[in-house]
Amino acid sequence: MAADEERFRVYHAAVAGRPPRATLLRALAAFEAENCVGFAVDLGAGEGRDAVALLQRGWAVLAIDSDAAALARLRGRAEIPPGARLVTLHGSFVDAAWPAADLVNASFALPLCPPERFAELWARLRASLLPGGRFAGQLYGPRDSWAARPGLTVHKSDAAHALLAGWTVEMFEEEETDAVTPRGEAKHWHIFHVVARAAV
Ligand SMILES: C[S@@+](CC[C@H](N)C(=O)[O-])C[C@H]1O[C@@H](n2cnc3c(N)ncnc32)[C@H](O)[C@@H]1O
Repeated sequence: MAADEERFRVYHAAVAGRPPRATLLRALAAFEAENCVGFAVDLGAGEGRDAVALLQRGWAVLAIDSDAAALARLRGRAEIPPGARLVTLHGSFVDAAWPAADLVNASFALPLCPPERFAELWARLRASLLPGGRFAGQLYGPRDSWAARPGLTVHKSDAAHALLAGWTVEMFEEEETDAVTPRGEAKHWHIFHVVARAAV
């Protein structure tokens, strides 16, 4: 098993059953105010803490993750209502194509895209959103403990804002905390929590 795969296996076991992310809940509240229940793509869905919440609210979900075991756990989750519209795709979101969506959710996932692929991934993500669609997820800032890790993309605050040019930014919260990761490692987090709405 590759080191990254093993790392995420431990992560998935540690976070099993945790509630949906605040960024997703913010986006869902905005959709609910518009009476919209639609189609969501969940990049780096893991074992489905966000995907399950979407399915429970009647959304159709395409969950993409490079860890097949995590997707198998998602498919087997007892909280998924009967008749829920879930499709899983085992593969890298850096390379994957996905259909046009009302929501692209990427909780703690986009920074895992290599820097040299990020601009193209972000352009694809933007292009995949239907008019008035939303992005919800996290970006990492330069003071994050993992900022220097090879293959990880970080954004300064102004660069993160620049990604959202032309969107309505509904949430942009910068967090810096010293905490312990779900895998039990001490870590300085520098995170931007983002929800943004594409032009109508
Ligand atoms: C930090 S976890 C976040 C999982 C979940 N979204 C959450 O909020 O708890 C990152 C997830 O992205 C997946 N992942 C990492 N790199 C990926 C890639 N290039 N393509 C698809 N999934 C990837 C991992 O397997 C893991 O499930």
